[in-house]
Amino acid sequence: MSPARTDPGPPEQVQTVLGLETSCDETAAAVVRLNAAGEAEVLSSVVASQIADHAPYGGVVPEIAARAHVENVDAIAAQALSDAGLGYDQLTGVAATAGPGLVGGVMVGLSFGKAVALARGLPLIAVNHLEGHAVSARLAAHLPYPFLLLLVSGGHCQLLSVDGVGACRRLGSTIDDAAGEAFDKIAKTLGLPYPGGPALEKLAQGGRPEQFVLPRMLLGRKDCDFSFSGLKTAAARLAEGLTTESDRRDLAACVQAAIATQLAERSDRAMAAYAQEHDGAGLRFVVAGGVAANKTVRATLEAAAAKRGFSFTAPPLAYCTDNAAMIALAGAERLALGQADPLDAPARPRWPLDAAAAAANPTHQPGRKGAKA
Ligand code: KG4
Ligand code: ZN
Repeated sequence: MSPARTDPGPPEQVQTVLGLETSCDETAAAVVRLNAAGEAEVLSSVVASQIADHAPYGGVVPEIAARAHVENVDAIAAQALSDAGLGYDQLTGVAATAGPGLVGGVMVGLSFGKAVALARGLPLIAVNHLEGHAVSARLAAHLPYPFLLLLVSGGHCQLLSVDGVGACRRLGSTIDDAAGEAFDKIAKTLGLPYPGGPALEKLAQGGRPEQFVLPRMLLGRKDCDFSFSGLKTAAARLAEGLTTESDRRDLAACVQAAIATQLAERSDRAMAAYAQEHDGAGLRFVVAGGVAANKTVRATLEAAAAKRGFSFTAPPLAYCTDNAAMIALAGAERLALGQADPLDAPARPRWPLDAAAAAANPTHQPGRKGAKA
C-alpha cells in the first residue's frame, strides 16, 4: 500500500477524479475527467436515491439516511468506476462532500473517500457541497469564470458571484426557508408526497397562476435577500379551504409562479449590480440546485436574464439535483490548481461558501431553523 499523499504534488495535466456525495438522501458516486484546457467529461455518474426509505415519514430522516449511505456507498463507488471502465489506480484524486449537510451522511462519504485516498495513495479533496452545485453547469456547457449564480435547492437559496475556483461572494440569501424547502412544505399542505417540489410542479400543470393572491415578500427592500415563510403560511391557509381538484391545481400554479417571481426579482437586482461591477461585459447568469429542475422557474429566470443582457445557463436536469459528478468536478478543478486536503479534514454540518459574508451578516442564529448555510 502506498502512503497517503496529503501534499498534492505538482498538478497533473489531466485529472481523473472519483466524486462521492452523501450529504442528504442520495448516495452518489461519479468519475469526471478534466483536461488541461479545463474541459470536463463525465465518465460515469451513479445516483442511488433513498426516496422510498424516507417517503413514509414525509421528509428525510437523518438516521435512516446515514445508515443507507453506509450500506450503499462502496457498491455505488464500484459501479461508478465500472461504468467509467476504470480502476482505482487510474484515478488522480478522490473528492468527497465534506459539508454542509446531514453530518451522519457526510461522515460516511468523507470517511470512504479518506479510506480510498489512504489505500491508493491519492490526494483527497474535501468539497463544499455548495461549490459542487456552483460548478454543476460547467459539467455540460462551456461556462468560463466569472459568473453570477443563483443556487436554489432544498437547503439553500443564495445569489453568489462566482469569481473563480473556490472564490464565491454572497450577494444575497434567504432569511428563512430555502426555495426548495418552501416547495416541499407547501406541497405537504396540499397533500402531495415527498419530495414535494416535483409533485407540486406536476399538480400545477393546467392550473391558473392568477387565481389566488399570494403575498410578495420583502417587496420594499433593495437588497438581494429572499423570504418564503409568509408565502408558506398564506398557501397553507388557502389549502385548508380547497375542495376541488381544479382549485388545488390553481393554488399549485400560483405558488410556483410566486416562487419563480421572487427568484427572478432578486436575481434581477443582483444582475444589475453585477453588470455595473463588470462594466457590462462577460455577463453570465447561472441557476443551479434542485429547484433549477422546475420548468417555470427556469423559464422565468431565462426571461429575466435576457432582459438584462445576460447569457443564461442551467445544468441538465440530472446535474440540478444532488449528484457526485459536480463534486468530482469541484475536486478536479482544485486538484488542477495543486490544492488538496489533509486526511483529518472534518465533516462540517454548516459550511458557508462565503465565510466573510456569513460572519458579517448571519442568516442563522443559534436555535433558529432554516437553510443549512
Ligand atoms: O439540490 P437538491 O437535490 O438537494 C439539496 O442540496 O437540497 O435539491 C432538492 C430540492 C427539494 O426541495 C426538491 O423539492 C426541489 O429541490 N426540487 C424541485 C423540483 N425538483 C427538485 N422543486 C421544484 N420543482 C421541481 N421540479
Ligand atoms: Zn444539493
